[in-house]
Amino acid sequence: MKTIIVSNRLPVKITESDDKIELKQSEGGLATGLGSIYRQGNNMWLGWSGIEVESESKQEEIKDRLQEINLFPVFLTQEEINLYYEGFSNETLWPVFHYHPTYAHYEQSYWDSYLAVNHKFKEAVLEIAEPGDIIWIHDYQLLLLAGLIRAEQPDITIGFFLHIPFPSYELFRLIPWRAELLENMLGADLIGFHTFDDARHFISSITRLLPLHASANQINYNDRQVIVEAFPMGIDEKKYESLTHDRLVLENVSKLKENFQDLKMILSIDRLDYSKGILQRLQAYDILLQKNPEYHERVVLYMIVVPSRDTVPQYKELRDEIDKLVGNINSRYRTLDWNPIHYYYRSFETEMLSALYNMAEICLVTPMRDGMNLVSKEYVASRTDNTGVLILSEMAGAAKELIDAIIVNPNNVGELYRAMIEAINMPLEEQLRRMVPMREVVAKFNVRHWVKIYMDRLDEVKQLQASMQ
Ligand code: UDP
Ligand code: G6P
Repeated sequence: MKTIIVSNRLPVKITESDDKIELKQSEGGLATGLGSIYRQGNNMWLGWSGIEVESESKQEEIKDRLQEINLFPVFLTQEEINLYYEGFSNETLWPVFHYHPTYAHYEQSYWDSYLAVNHKFKEAVLEIAEPGDIIWIHDYQLLLLAGLIRAEQPDITIGFFLHIPFPSYELFRLIPWRAELLENMLGADLIGFHTFDDARHFISSITRLLPLHASANQINYNDRQVIVEAFPMGIDEKKYESLTHDRLVLENVSKLKENFQDLKMILSIDRLDYSKGILQRLQAYDILLQKNPEYHERVVLYMIVVPSRDTVPQYKELRDEIDKLVGNINSRYRTLDWNPIHYYYRSFETEMLSALYNMAEICLVTPMRDGMNLVSKEYVASRTDNTGVLILSEMAGAAKELIDAIIVNPNNVGELYRAMIEAINMPLEEQLRRMVPMREVVAKFNVRHWVKIYMDRLDEVKQLQASMQ
């Protein structure tokens, strides 16, 4: 018996240079979280290679290389990348699920490709699945996969986990293919979300749109019990704790100290995404500098924006707007030896992120919507001396657990501004009073715990189903 993890992206980055294939472990939360599973025994992780590979011999070569480390690639054509990945996944589902319906496109060709690619993933899963295996599917790119597999393998064990918010019924109902999406999600035995609200929204859509009856978190679909529950994902807190005394991290910290020694550092780290509230954050920082000249040359905003989906028009536009606003703020307030914002449009290695988490007195995480948000938890895990202030949006799943952060409504720029002032001036005892319990939460509900309770629950659901037959 083996576990097959399925996600749109594999947990490695594949690059091709000089005709040579290079593999790099990706740092994302899911990759580290599930790393312990897919490397065990004959378990597998199945997902898109992340690059377009046309030649069959190259595809075979990549397949062989990946198989050595329990990975199984699915190859997408350029058209599928355009219509399934950029199109239905990121121009239809992503905006609606993040409460941005005005950004959504409802294109038949996107849907057709989404269905076709979910079928492609199904074929790939069935190629390696054997009786008794557990399939664990992740995220919004593969909402149909559980149903498609179930149609061919009625008894197989399938878990599904959504890493982004599930929107309220009033938003979800906008999607023309809403019923097909829900019915196929119900192909799973256990449907997991990060928060209780997401689970509630999902059940509400099921009962109104299909309509099916739900008794609490249990749905009877085609004579099979499906359970819907919240499992807030954690991080590998030990990794972030031990990174604080890693040699490379310490070197990075001392370099940062040379440049920022007399400044309070406010840290902001996100992928480029309109769901992350980056512009509102910049507006609040602008107000701070405008109203409080005494903070000039005393604070710095260290802002990392990781390039993401920049072939999707809204992302490209957002990038331009950020460039403009950062340029505007820096040009208005900078002095001979001070830049109010240090802005990077690139990704960093974990050792640099850890150094920044260590250095920054304040971490500003203010998404408009976020399924969970791991950056906030990584910051907390890195504060081994229990100091530091986290400003956290109430719209992030993490806000349900990190209740001792300064919780803000990201749409309220005035509130963001006041939270920054509060954070800059927060006495040490107050910092400790807030950070200690947050560190306990992050340590207790870590990613190992998340995997364990999900897998245990999936096992229980199968037993429940067997007892009801
Ligand atoms: N991250 C990274 N390199 C960077 C910046 C961020 O690997 O330069 C990682 C970060 O450590 C975190 C993940 O990217 O684990 C972002 O996860 P989060 O849940 O905060 O947001 P998402 O990008 O999944 O929406
Ligand atoms: C979010 C999603 C993931 C996705 C990641 C990066 O975390 O929940 O499913 O993989 O963003 O986005 P990308 O489009 O580059 O895979």
